[in-house]
Amino acid sequence: MFGSVVSRWTMLHFWTALAFFVLAQAEMAFGIAYPAVSLFAPTTLAAVHLLTIGWISVLMLGALHQFLPVITAQRIVAGRSALISLMAILVGLAGMEAGFLAMGGVLPITCLACLPIGGTLVLAGFVTASAVLARVLWRTRPLPFSACFVAVGLGFLLITAAMGIVMGLVFAYPDLVPWPEALSTGFHLHLLAGLVGWFTLTAMGVSYRLLSMFTLAPEERGTIGTAVVVLSAGGTVAAWLIGLGNAAGVAIPGETAALGAAAAGIALYIVDMVRLYRARRRRKLELNTVMAVPPLAAFAICLMGALAIAAADDAFIGPVGYLFIFGWLSGLGLSQLYKIVPFLTWLQRYGQVLGKQDVPRVQDLVDERRDRPWFWLYFAAVALGFLAGLVGWTLLWRLAIAAHLTATLMIVRALWLVRRPKAPAMGRQKPMGPRHFGILPYPHGGTVR
Ligand code: HEM
Repeated sequence: MFGSVVSRWTMLHFWTALAFFVLAQAEMAFGIAYPAVSLFAPTTLAAVHLLTIGWISVLMLGALHQFLPVITAQRIVAGRSALISLMAILVGLAGMEAGFLAMGGVLPITCLACLPIGGTLVLAGFVTASAVLARVLWRTRPLPFSACFVAVGLGFLLITAAMGIVMGLVFAYPDLVPWPEALSTGFHLHLLAGLVGWFTLTAMGVSYRLLSMFTLAPEERGTIGTAVVVLSAGGTVAAWLIGLGNAAGVAIPGETAALGAAAAGIALYIVDMVRLYRARRRRKLELNTVMAVPPLAAFAICLMGALAIAAADDAFIGPVGYLFIFGWLSGLGLSQLYKIVPFLTWLQRYGQVLGKQDVPRVQDLVDERRDRPWFWLYFAAVALGFLAGLVGWTLLWRLAIAAHLTATLMIVRALWLVRRPKAPAMGRQKPMGPRHFGILPYPHGGTVR
């Protein structure tokens, strides 16, 4: 049955993730977290983990449960384990939030223990999800191009959480951690593993697959693609291992070179994305593919920003981190949800009757004219926030955050309307045949547009 190839808990992951995204933006706009308070304030740490775990990680895991089987041409395998993993992450994240608030004196200091305990539950949720996804990868050896990024990304997901727990222990039970420097060195490795290893590599892999499909561009990326994967994934792994070795007192040279290789791989990815868009066969792009361009531009600016920070100025860390989370990762996530949610809805609603009767197109479930301005508002507000951050104008930055919060709410509303059990107008209906499938593992292969 077509309907059965929809991963059952993916939509729940998406709604949960969006709720955390809204909550974190509200905290920032209302001055509870950065930029109104320090980047390292406990309330900022709380908001950062709402974003990194609650929003982006949950979104990516939900999407991977659906799309990793597509990338690897395997059957969807995540059943109840996807729900168990999500529950563990949610309860664990609540514990971590309590721990961060205890750090800031908002909750009693005894709640600090919730930080490593919550982190352990989050890790358990990540392990549960990764085990299922790793099984899919294992059955697909040798891995297809885009799945290589995901395999490395999942490894970094577990490393990030494990390092977070160690840092949480340093805060809650310093006597239990025999390495006093775990916090300072661990912090950088935690960031490298989480922001580059997990988020960026996975987003790169999934975007290669999705954007080539949505733009009808060649998926085979040739030598450039191979160079992207070797440099970005290899460079990140090497930099992380060297960093760990150095932290453990084994002096290993080459960290800068490894980071440089990773940066070169990312730069090449951006160039390759430009090639991909240029080589597309679909001339008129849908909103989700048009709206993938600003995140890629934001990613390019972040790369230059990271180089500037490495060379000279730490003052840019806040604005560049903001652009990275809201422009690149969240922007890409929101824009692709605008295709994925209608698609999954369409599949659940019409999958059973395909070939037997006329059905609407996936795009008939959304109203691009109505929603386009909200996407532009989102990206314009992020750009304004970034510029305000660069010049240190905090009030304007918060207003910009309030503007992209509004845009997010309107995009969430658009996604919610897609799920309403109301049949869309059938005026533009087209008969759909098996040749239209391929975003999911259909028996016949092919592509859904
Ligand atoms: C996908 C998973 C995660 C990502 C991407 C992530 C990302 C981050 C980021 C970006 C920061 C810097 C925040 C700032 O300076 O404002 C941070 C700090 C921190 N994270 Fe995580 N994190 C993750 C999971 C965890 C987990 C599971 C724990 C466990 C308790 C944890 C504990 C911490 C702690 C204690 C800090 C503060 C360290 C310090 O201030 O020295 N993280 N994390």
